[in-house]
Amino acid sequence: MNRFTTSWGTFELARFPQDPRDRLRAWDASDDYLLQHLAEAGAEPAGPVVVLGDRWGALATALAGLRPVQITDSFLTQRATAANLARNGIAPDAVELRSVLDPPPPRIDVLLVRVPKSLALLEDQLRRLAPGVHAGTVVVGTGMVTEIHTSTLKLFERILGPTRTSLARRKARLIFCAPDPATAPAPGDWPRRYPLPDDAGIVAGRTVTSHAGIFSAERLDIGTRLFLRHLPRHHGARRVVDLGCGNGVVGTAAALADPAAEVTFIDESFAAVASAEATFRENLGPERAAEFLVADGLSDAAPGSVDLVLNNPPFHSHQATTAATAHRMFRDSRRALRSGGELWVIGNRHLGYHVALRRLFGGCEVVASDPKFVILRAVKR
Ligand SMILES: C[S@@+](CC[C@H](N)C(=O)[O-])C[C@H]1O[C@@H](n2cnc3c(N)ncnc32)[C@H](O)[C@@H]1O
Repeated sequence: MNRFTTSWGTFELARFPQDPRDRLRAWDASDDYLLQHLAEAGAEPAGPVVVLGDRWGALATALAGLRPVQITDSFLTQRATAANLARNGIAPDAVELRSVLDPPPPRIDVLLVRVPKSLALLEDQLRRLAPGVHAGTVVVGTGMVTEIHTSTLKLFERILGPTRTSLARRKARLIFCAPDPATAPAPGDWPRRYPLPDDAGIVAGRTVTSHAGIFSAERLDIGTRLFLRHLPRHHGARRVVDLGCGNGVVGTAAALADPAAEVTFIDESFAAVASAEATFRENLGPERAAEFLVADGLSDAAPGSVDLVLNNPPFHSHQATTAATAHRMFRDSRRALRSGGELWVIGNRHLGYHVALRRLFGGCEVVASDPKFVILRAVKR
């Protein structure tokens, strides 16, 4: 846990899941800069305050007195926010948690944006929120200087109105945007669809749907493509999990490969799970049984409840040191698998997933590989 001293008070904060060595802070200089600016600006907002893109709930927790609406694509962010409110004795309903796909508030008087990594997600969100923004809305963005580009500023300018930036302070920068109602942006064109290439195994030529900002939203990832070409056919597994499902292409392939398979699609991104559901339904119809879960991997799965886990773990993310997420996914998969059940993992060679799998499962074998990627299979004994 770490202490965040701001102009709005001092707060004990932690990430979710909590960093066991407590080294990673749940806030950064850009959160601090934004909070300081708001306190100096002084004006108490009359109406709804929206916080978009808060990473671990530092902004929502510090501003809980304003009863903000937090909008995020991340289930981990929501869990972190709820835990941080509780840690600081703040009632859970002080912050309204909404996902990026929930309807946005009809009126917004203050819009605070922690700039997300994905420009597509930012664009989609600004377009969704724009109808609630009016000439008097205070719009302030924040991010580290490495995260704010000319394209970021142009986006605010194009969708909301004239935009400028602050001086950098401790490598963070603010974005000030003066909404111009005459801008009246068109709604976004997400979710988008694309056809899969001919060498994508059983799903070749089929179409996937992706909401803004998810992994591989515009084209198939090359690692996923290798995975699709080597997935088990007629695997005979009934309870299959597509762990970290993104747009659901892997789980959809597993369902097509075996009519008896019931696939559970899991991702911590709300947009990913909605994409997976759209992809699955388009390719398998309305009747085929499947489950779609926004969750922290398999952390809540019943032990021994799964026959086959298919996993392309996250390898870059704002959410945590990434190896830690992948290793947690492997550990939780082992617990969720029945004896004899299998975990199939695709990863970049240099990530060395075989070491973790051997340690956890007592062994693993290489199913296929190319110069960049390797597919590993581990069996629960
Ligand atoms: C490398 S992508 C793979 C997506 C998809 N399976 C594919 O191959 O195109 C990893 C996915 O894991 C998800 N993810 C990251 N952390 C997670 C967690 N703790 N629980 C569930 N999903 C997570 C990310 O949102 C992302 O969609």
